[in-house]
Amino acid sequence: MLVSKKRTEEEKNKYMQDLRAWIESQKDVPAEEMAGFFAARLEGYEGVHLGNWGEEYRAIADYFDDGLESLLDIGCGTGLELTAMFKRFPELQVTGIDLSSHMLGRLRENFPGKNIALVNADYFQHPFGESLFDAALSFETLHHFPFEKKLGLYKKLYKALRPGGYYVECDYVACGPEEEALCQAHLAEKRRKSGIPDSQFLHIDTPLTLPHQLELLEKAGFANVRVLYENGSTAILRGERSKKS
Ligand SMILES: C[S@@+](CC[C@H](N)C(=O)[O-])C[C@H]1O[C@@H](n2cnc3c(N)ncnc32)[C@H](O)[C@@H]1O
Repeated sequence: MLVSKKRTEEEKNKYMQDLRAWIESQKDVPAEEMAGFFAARLEGYEGVHLGNWGEEYRAIADYFDDGLESLLDIGCGTGLELTAMFKRFPELQVTGIDLSSHMLGRLRENFPGKNIALVNADYFQHPFGESLFDAALSFETLHHFPFEKKLGLYKKLYKALRPGGYYVECDYVACGPEEEALCQAHLAEKRRKSGIPDSQFLHIDTPLTLPHQLELLEKAGFANVRVLYENGSTAILRGERSKKS
């Protein structure tokens, strides 16, 4: 397991100062639609992500229980988190869902011979089925979406788990309400300027605070919701489906 490194107030203040400056610098940069964003960056993508979250990718399998057989990975991309999962659970059956066919193509190349079913779809629209998976995972994909939209998705994830199953999320969290509001205002402004409607996904980060994340998982029905790890703006959360539900 990784050791948490929580930010000090001073570090959060510096982070917010840098974020405000970065958002200002992006004022005239055109907004990018989600799948197109990742397709355009496929070649450099894995290096950048492993550089930013290398230790979390290497350790993610530690947050799963022994005996894991089936996993739903939403927003699986090229599958960086699956390297550790297959190392610990070589026979794991993975269902991976992603909007980008380019990312899924790379995932397929990365894991020859593994038991993986890939679905090229929007995870908000795609039915996950009921009581099918031992566990579900999302890694760095849900920080683009607002509270209400995530709530519906978490409810769907809850139902997709078998009773006693659990969900693990490693994602970007806001350091406080000010960051959450600033990022949402940034997204709204980009939509206004570009005329892109709410129905189209933009690649703009809108992380929620940890209290909002925990509230969401509990509202969706998850039990024993907890933060397992924090490192700056990255957190690993876990919630469980009760054995009786
Ligand atoms: C930053 S990447 C993370 C990929 C992988 N989990 C990892 O950590 O390397 C985010 C991924 O989420 C996918 N994604 C974003 N919104 C999605 C949606 N609504 N439905 C399915 N996939 C989505 C993107 O296409 C992209 O591959």
